[in-house]
Amino acid sequence: MSPSPRDAHPILQQEMDNVSQAINKTINRLLPETDLAENHLYDAMRHGTLNGGKRLRPFLVIHSAKLFNVDPARARRVAAALEFIHCYSLIHDDLPSMDDAALRRGKPTVHIQYNEATAILAGDALLTLAFEVLSENETHEDPRVRCNLIQAIAKASGGHGMVGGQMLDLLAETNDFDLGTISRLQRMKTGKLMAFACEAGAILGKAGDPQKRALCNYAHDLGLAFQVTDDILDVEADPQDTGKDTNKDADAGKATFVSTMGKEQAKNRAEMLVHQSISHLKIFGNRADMLKDLALYVLERRA
Ligand code: IPE
Ligand code: IPE
Ligand code: MG
Ligand code: MG
Ligand code: MG
Repeated sequence: MSPSPRDAHPILQQEMDNVSQAINKTINRLLPETDLAENHLYDAMRHGTLNGGKRLRPFLVIHSAKLFNVDPARARRVAAALEFIHCYSLIHDDLPSMDDAALRRGKPTVHIQYNEATAILAGDALLTLAFEVLSENETHEDPRVRCNLIQAIAKASGGHGMVGGQMLDLLAETNDFDLGTISRLQRMKTGKLMAFACEAGAILGKAGDPQKRALCNYAHDLGLAFQVTDDILDVEADPQDTGKDTNKDADAGKATFVSTMGKEQAKNRAEMLVHQSISHLKIFGNRADMLKDLALYVLERRA
């Protein structure tokens, strides 16, 4: 499976490839192989992070940071820290006690390649590593900036963020949630980490409140649209493109936008959200063109 967006605009596609390469280098450096006895754990962490992926969250960090002329090396460290948390969430999401998935990014999931206990530990260690990276001087020389980043990522990934969303998602297998609750669930499990991605650029660049708010609003709508398209792909994508098995949601009896409003209405909702997300970028003029193109890609994506 290629991490490149098949239908994306060529300039966007090129830039997504650039981001993927840069972030892989940074991850490689932050997560080196060791010859210590615990290397088995590091192998599993590397499998769970260097196995492909679209690197959408790193793209958002890097391009939102660019709006404020942030040193790219700093943005890459924050992008890698966020990708560690995203990858940890996927490793745990795939566990038998959660979505019980055998395939991720076209490769065996971490618990299939290693074992369940190793997958749990690899996820734990990636989550912890993210905080270690953010706390280091190299991420930003101003300790207040580092503290702000740490606080924002903790909020986005914790019980009222991604993890809370994952809890609601599991409850959606046995509860008949209404659309409002499903939206909240999706905004938490997917939207919050994406919002952090954009907020991080603003924190690194010490941006003003209006800019920060605009980016957060963009990312919240984009995050929800992204999860709606994830749910659509679950029913209609080719596993060769997505690198994961399809029909997981329906098989688990999960309430999603697709199960609640049907595929066509879900597509309309995603389109509306993407256009709404783009409208929040107005204050940046054409400097935010890459972020606009990324939002349009979310609608067309097949992976
Ligand atoms: C998958 O995220 C999980 C969701 C939050 C929908 P991505 O579709 O961004 O997965 P990768 O990183 O490209 O593999
Ligand atoms: C997972 O959502 C979101 C996470 C926070 C990991 P899904 O369960 O829909 O993601 P996929 O479809 O397995 O990638
Ligand atoms: Mg899940
Ligand atoms: Mg899943
Ligand atoms: Mg899914």
